[in-house]
Amino acid sequence: MAKPTFQFTCQACGAVHKKWAGRCDACGGWNTIQEEAPLSQGPRALGNKGRTIQLTDLATQEPLPPRASSGIAELDRVLGGGLVPASALLVGGDPGIGKSTLLLQATASFARQGMKALYISGEEATAQVRMRAQRLGLADAPVGLAAETNLRDILTTLDQERPGLAVIDSIQTMWLDNVESAPGSVAQVRASAHELVNFAKKRGVAVVIVGHVTKEGQIAGPRVVEHMVDTVLYFEGERGHQFRILRAVKNRFGPADEIGVFEMTGQGLSQVTNPSALFLSDRGNPVPGSAVFAGIEGTRPVLTEIQALVAPTTLGTARRTVVGLDSGRVSTILAVLEARCGIPFAGLDVFLNVAGGLRVSEPASDLAVAAALLSAREDVAIPPESVLFGEISLSGALRPAVQTENRLKEAAKLGFTTAIAPAGSKLGQTEGIGVRAFSDLTAFVGEMFGAG
Ligand code: TYD
Ligand code: MG
Repeated sequence: MAKPTFQFTCQACGAVHKKWAGRCDACGGWNTIQEEAPLSQGPRALGNKGRTIQLTDLATQEPLPPRASSGIAELDRVLGGGLVPASALLVGGDPGIGKSTLLLQATASFARQGMKALYISGEEATAQVRMRAQRLGLADAPVGLAAETNLRDILTTLDQERPGLAVIDSIQTMWLDNVESAPGSVAQVRASAHELVNFAKKRGVAVVIVGHVTKEGQIAGPRVVEHMVDTVLYFEGERGHQFRILRAVKNRFGPADEIGVFEMTGQGLSQVTNPSALFLSDRGNPVPGSAVFAGIEGTRPVLTEIQALVAPTTLGTARRTVVGLDSGRVSTILAVLEARCGIPFAGLDVFLNVAGGLRVSEPASDLAVAAALLSAREDVAIPPESVLFGEISLSGALRPAVQTENRLKEAAKLGFTTAIAPAGSKLGQTEGIGVRAFSDLTAFVGEMFGAG
């Protein structure tokens, strides 16, 4: 009998290595590689013939599956209009961010609308989940609840019950008895997710898999499951802030990059239907270093405040502390300001932050970031009634952004009267807001700060 050959798998990214190493070449993680039995030995003999599979053509008309609305509008938006039957979803996020709370609320909401919904917790006892449900005012919802980690038993139960929705909280606690590794290892997480996704497709059950984002390498993160599921949602937010963002990073049934905004309260998560108003909430007198960015998150415009602080450094190397923005992009903007506009930031500490805990990844935020930096450096406030957007290229030219009209409409709705935008933007029809267009950063700097 051939003895099983062990392999070495990175617990962070799932890359397979021939031998152990301290650092994973694929993801750069340290101490993340562990020895594991391989997932499958493969077919014993190649001579074995499989069954022929049925082929069909592309023109066959399948009726679109009806989507089930959760009754929580922000969640439906991220799902692309509602839950698709027989789909597999992954909800990832840091421990303690509120995944269980969100999914318990969603399960209860689906159940109240008549869908058969099960919530399987591998982390908490049923009494704990019940207590939380009571605190959230959900105790009367007809949710089927169980505390279990043995996936074989769970699948047997699901097969009998045939619910419309099953939530598995979390995948890292589940184990299959035919896989010889500890729960939470890449092999277990992968095999368990594979079984769950297969079950969802075969039996027409929508399965939601919860996955903790893990910092150290002992436990597999949700990334190893991402490619198996139809939809990947991440629940993000700063622990200190009450705001939570549910972001679709992959969606086979709707737009990716859509966000839903929630607020963590004493009674669980409540929806925030007007995020712009929220992210701009405590703006009082104009202060230097603050710029409002008119951004687009998914299909919806969201205004956010970019805050900058620039101060002489007390250390040998100047600090660049960036929260909520890509630090690589910020370095590029600093370099363009220095090289194209002659405004050096050497010897100055730079702190940048997006108010409210939102993460901004759009290149169109460049101009607002540059404006916040300059405003902080020159100690000149940007007129409070103006918003900015536009991508800065390495030459210092400003590039028009997508969906300009939506950005302008949202800004006008919130009482802004001026938009600073790249020349050549497609303005469309917007009332109540004037546009000041600049073709490059130098022109903008000269006009706004009298330098350049
Ligand atoms: P939880 O849903 O357990 O997080 P996860 O499943 O992602 O690990 O949320 C835990 C946090 O949420 C906890 O720190 C307390 C907070 N919380 C509230 O503020 N209000 C509430 O009503 C609930 C249920 C939790
Ligand atoms: Mg939890």
